[in-house]
Amino acid sequence: MAILPILCYPDPRLHKVAKPVQAVDARVRALTADMLATMYEANGIGLAATQVDVHERIIVIDVSEERDQPLVLINPELVWTSEQRQLGDEGCLSVPGIYDSVERAEAVRARALDADGNVREIEAEGLLAVCIQHEMDHLLGKVFVEYLSPLKRGRIKTKMLKQQKQQAVRA
Ligand code: NI
Repeated sequence: MAILPILCYPDPRLHKVAKPVQAVDARVRALTADMLATMYEANGIGLAATQVDVHERIIVIDVSEERDQPLVLINPELVWTSEQRQLGDEGCLSVPGIYDSVERAEAVRARALDADGNVREIEAEGLLAVCIQHEMDHLLGKVFVEYLSPLKRGRIKTKMLKQQKQQAVRA
């Protein structure tokens, strides 16, 4: 397993639209294992392939306290979303140190292939529902800061670029 580099906002590659996975084969299974290792290493609860510069419809999630319930969703689709909405604070491994509130559906039902290529349906609410929606946005090239006001987004962009410049100087 390998720890993959995570793209940081405002990297334009975060806005690429991911393509469906054609076959869940050894390559895809190895990628999902690397994505899970990368997510756990970074202490995240979710990671989309887009964030590791692979533009295929794959996300991994683990919202459990014990960090022992990995979920792999390949070619995920939302088959139902609740009318009920929730407002919650979100962060993102591609926008380190930034948290802000985003409105999402309170519950969703998602259909996806698992790492064995089997079709699975997941009913989710609360944090897991938020996480599924956040990661699926990544596959469409959308980062959560795009839900914020242009003013806030501008400030975040400036802050991120400054941090990246400082890191480049240190490296
Ligand atoms: Ni994210």
